[in-house]
Amino acid sequence: MTTEKIQLFGSDLDGTLLGNPEAARRFKDAWEALPRRQRPLLCYNSGRLVQDVIDLLATGCLFWPDYIIGGVGTQIYDGRQKRSFSEYNRVFSKGWDLKRIEQILSLFPGVTRQPPQFLHPYKSSWYLHQAPPEVIENLKRQLADAGLEVTVVYSSMRDLDVLPAKTNKGSALQWLCDKINVPLVNVLVAGDTGNDSSMFLLPGVKGIVVENAQPELYEAVVKLPTFSASQVLADGVLEGLKNFGVIPEAPSLESSTLRGHEMDPTLRMLFTEAALGTLTSEERQLICAGYDQALIALRKNITPLGFSACSLDDNEVTGTDVNYRSVWARDGAITLVCTIELEDADVRAAQKQTLKTLHLLDRQRTVGRHRLLLLRQQNPGLRFPRRILRPPPAGDELAECAGQQQ
Ligand code: GLC
Repeated sequence: MTTEKIQLFGSDLDGTLLGNPEAARRFKDAWEALPRRQRPLLCYNSGRLVQDVIDLLATGCLFWPDYIIGGVGTQIYDGRQKRSFSEYNRVFSKGWDLKRIEQILSLFPGVTRQPPQFLHPYKSSWYLHQAPPEVIENLKRQLADAGLEVTVVYSSMRDLDVLPAKTNKGSALQWLCDKINVPLVNVLVAGDTGNDSSMFLLPGVKGIVVENAQPELYEAVVKLPTFSASQVLADGVLEGLKNFGVIPEAPSLESSTLRGHEMDPTLRMLFTEAALGTLTSEERQLICAGYDQALIALRKNITPLGFSACSLDDNEVTGTDVNYRSVWARDGAITLVCTIELEDADVRAAQKQTLKTLHLLDRQRTVGRHRLLLLRQQNPGLRFPRRILRPPPAGDELAECAGQQQ
């Protein structure tokens, strides 16, 4: 709990508030539920360009913010006035020579340009996989030797952003706070990757690191009194908001008001064009082959009682292997969840049958436990292992052997 009142909450989007649509909805609901006068200003601070964020918000997945910082600190948008702070860009012109930057970057080993929708005249973004710090230092040196004053931000061991000098998510947030007179000690931020660290490093700012954060962010903030959430994504953010007294309670992980049809259709796709953009055609072929093989394997697990834990035809039974010729609660449920988007009649039927079988087994187990409890009441001397009488915890593997009945 903090003593300074939080006046502005600045949060990254992808991997922080976004990633689990239900958790994002929990954040939206919790924010909406705050009385207007208690609600801090909300600022999304993303690597996405502002227009991309606006398009995303049009799906209704998140609360409409007071401000949007886009393009890793290169754009600032006023969500209330629905216009950009045009004066912000004036600070950029010094030392910025996009042509020269691109010449140097395109010759740098291992880099590929990000798709055009991620770029703008003050943001030169590239992919560079698994680059050690020396490589990034080398690139910075080359740019400096060419007389270019730029900021290089490397995050997620993949994204390489070259931005105008002293520009990053943190400096943009600081500019905004100066503009709207919010002291940094009244600012709370949340993030998950290296490009968020500059927000955390602003003097006086408080921070929430979500559980799924990249090591690079943990490393950058290790000496700061940040809050490390034990939950991932928006649920971690909610946990942090509770810690800093912004919301009274973090909503239960089970609560969601999201309806199926509200899901972003792109989430139904395994890979978007943009994500595939960095892969070679060989790598794409490998993914396609893997996908086809997974479907073949899946079909082998379809039994009259639902998805079995192993393919019955391909596995010789020795010893306790017989257990795997069963519909298991955990394996069955995982298979079901992972195949939910497949429009395939056989798979759909197996999903339904898996649920029926698991439901039946759960009832049998509950009835069995009640019978034992009753027996014990009638015969106080009777002893059973405690494990048998304990109600199963949520998500427990029932490990029932329905498949054996075939
Ligand atoms: C977002 C942007 C991308 C940038 C990355 C890291 O994914 O779309 O251009 O490189 O954030 O800042």
